[in-house]
Amino acid sequence: MLQRCLDLLAPALQDPARPEPVVVDCTLGLGGHSEALLAAFPTARLIALDRDKEALRLSGERLAPYGDRATLVHAVYDELPEVLDRLGVPKVQGVLFDLGVSSMQLDEADRGFAYAQDAPLDMRMDQSTGMGAAEVLNTYPPGELVRILRAYGEEKQAKRIVSAIVREREKEPFSNSARLVELIRDALPQAAKRTGGNPAKRTFQALRIEVNGELSVLERAVPAAVDSLAVGGRIAVLSYHSLEDRLVKQVFAAGSANTAPPGLPVVPERYQPRLKQLTRGAELPTEEEIAENRRAAPARLRGAQRIREEER
Ligand SMILES: C[S@@+](CC[C@H](N)C(=O)[O-])C[C@H]1O[C@@H](n2cnc3c(N)ncnc32)[C@H](O)[C@@H]1O
Repeated sequence: MLQRCLDLLAPALQDPARPEPVVVDCTLGLGGHSEALLAAFPTARLIALDRDKEALRLSGERLAPYGDRATLVHAVYDELPEVLDRLGVPKVQGVLFDLGVSSMQLDEADRGFAYAQDAPLDMRMDQSTGMGAAEVLNTYPPGELVRILRAYGEEKQAKRIVSAIVREREKEPFSNSARLVELIRDALPQAAKRTGGNPAKRTFQALRIEVNGELSVLERAVPAAVDSLAVGGRIAVLSYHSLEDRLVKQVFAAGSANTAPPGLPVVPERYQPRLKQLTRGAELPTEEEIAENRRAAPARLRGAQRIREEER
């Protein structure tokens, strides 16, 4: 859905009134989207964030030919306001989020994101800070683990899985993914194993979201990104599961709502929407895109444009 992201952002990045637009890629990853932005919008300056230092190193090499048009910053994306402040950039014309884990993170077995390979249970996107997945599994109270598996993994068998985890961790703490995958397989009833792919998938997603505080960071980051947009600026967000998409949907819906009390003959400006939604609902990848890249299948794209200055 890369081309669709570029098309959504294009009017803001090709506006003759803004000869040197600034676009922020909040999820640099391996730099594919950033490179496409730099190539498609030759007058734009790019500011790109990632919390993963390895991603910054690799995409730094990839984007080197663009010289000082690209500024790469090690940051969590809810730090966007401080990053822009430090760089002396008051407002930007475009923001892109391509959420979730990168294929590099999934493919590097020792990061522990993939349930298909045995690896240390880490799952931190920024390995220089915070608690890894093994520590979460070994130390959280059972009730908290159940909540996480239900809320972030939408796992219906959360109680059953957590009972098995607690029994096992008392014998020996968890360190590697294979033991957890096997335990989940053994804990689930036959019927639950027949649907929804690998039975460990939902637990792994839940742990990853918890370890990286993904939803609470996103909840702060999307409104902050909207605040950073100049009038006419545009934001595009690619989500990969319903919890992320729901958060984005809520922020865009709140920003594009008219909040005037009913019955006002003329709606004062402070009640008028400050966003215009650019997508009808969430846009999905085409069948060809999914055939080309299986990991794109759950993608949901939403876009919005800032249409009013005043904060509410
Ligand atoms: C799906 S990948 C992005 C891929 C990228 N669009 C490309 O073309 O290569 C998501 C990236 O966002 C980063 N990321 C995830 N959550 C983040 C956060 N809260 N703050 C900063 N970076 C984050 C991950 O480390 C990962 O590298």
